[in-house]
Amino acid sequence: MRIVMIGTGYVGLVSGACFADFGHDVVCVDKDQSKIDALLAGEIPIFEPGLDELVAKNVEAGRLSFTLDVAQAMPGTDAVFIAVGTPSRRGDGHADLSYVYAASREMAPLLPAGVVVVDKSTVPVGTGDEVERIIREEAPDLEFSVASNPEFLREGAAIDDFKRPDRVVIGVNDEHAEAVLAEIYRPLTRNESPLVSMSRRGAELTKYAANAFLATKISFINEIADLCEKVGADVGDVAKGIGLDSRIGNRFLMPGPGYGGSCFPKDTVALLKTGQDFESPLRIVESVVASNDQRKRSMGRKVINAMGGGDLHGKTVAVLGLTFKANTDDMRDSPAISIVQALQDSGISVKAYDPEGMDQAAAVLSHVTYCDGPYDALDGADAAVIVTEWDAFRALDLGRAKELLKAPLLVDLRNLYSRPDVERQGFTYVAIGR
Ligand code: UDX
Repeated sequence: MRIVMIGTGYVGLVSGACFADFGHDVVCVDKDQSKIDALLAGEIPIFEPGLDELVAKNVEAGRLSFTLDVAQAMPGTDAVFIAVGTPSRRGDGHADLSYVYAASREMAPLLPAGVVVVDKSTVPVGTGDEVERIIREEAPDLEFSVASNPEFLREGAAIDDFKRPDRVVIGVNDEHAEAVLAEIYRPLTRNESPLVSMSRRGAELTKYAANAFLATKISFINEIADLCEKVGADVGDVAKGIGLDSRIGNRFLMPGPGYGGSCFPKDTVALLKTGQDFESPLRIVESVVASNDQRKRSMGRKVINAMGGGDLHGKTVAVLGLTFKANTDDMRDSPAISIVQALQDSGISVKAYDPEGMDQAAAVLSHVTYCDGPYDALDGADAAVIVTEWDAFRALDLGRAKELLKAPLLVDLRNLYSRPDVERQGFTYVAIGR
């Protein structure tokens, strides 16, 4: 199959490289000259484990190429995937679809007959209808289909998620689109990943419902963790005790400082807007959004309380981990942002280390001293707080850490350590839900 991918952001680049690796012929198009220049020079503009090798391998095999010129990419293509950004619109939280619509309008006169235009960007219900209307308006005589194919990739595990998905969801309103997408995903469905075919609107909603449900699971266990602290239970036991029930499932029950990233915060809010537009209340999702916002704000207070509260001017905290989760350089909606700001508002100086996220952190957080490694951050600090579950923080030399810290206080917002191990080293240990 010949595939054009519009947008070489996170989703476009990962999907394009993986499709090429399946053996398809893929051209990735972007408007950003610097991105295309970098990709042509073999540089990958995002951090994703394994992506550079995958891109290099498929470029070399002649199956993957990059261009600024959408007209040059189109002839003979079977499917065009739209993988442009859908950020939250300022002010009202609706998904901003201007990039999706602009791409549709621009490509319409260039599309070959019989092409399937596939929305891969996360777009609200009804966007496929509008894409179809725009293309029809610009190319009235063209025979084409519009389909939806949401992605469920996690940053840091995106290639594995793409190649070994629990399912592939396709939303199609005609048989031709279904046949083309089934052919594109054949390498996966042969390996037993189910292809779930449904209406276009069903697929659009599935993506939001999946993310909102996962966000709900996380917020649920976070609130249960708070209750555990009050009643003297261990949230790890409770999560295990409920998660072994296959109706509940054991994943996404890790308590922490609140969910962040490019998807959950944005998609839950966008789903609420859809609910409002269609006058269909989504009270559970509403509570999840409120609970998570509140949680991120309360995490800074947790550290401050652990330090005894009161006047903390002149104190220093070592923040270990800044990105919203491990194995990414992404700072979007990271809990670290509100934690660092809450500490600074209390007069505390912040030293921080993150294996990949410090450049992006510097763009959103000011007055932070960025360090060369975890021990450099701990040196002379009054407390340490683990915000992100990087492997580099899982096996710290606690003896060395204690010598470097002014006070042996470890606030572990990811429950990476066991209390006896840390307390044995003479630390005061504050974790989540235990
Ligand atoms: C998510 C979805 O998992 C993915 O299917 C979708 O396509 C995009 O959004 P991502 O944002 O990359 O992926 O990260 P994910 O691993 O899902 O984590 C999201 C947030 O939830 C992170 O802040 C993470 O720390 C938090 N989380 C996750 C928890 O606090 N506890 C958990 O048990 C799982």
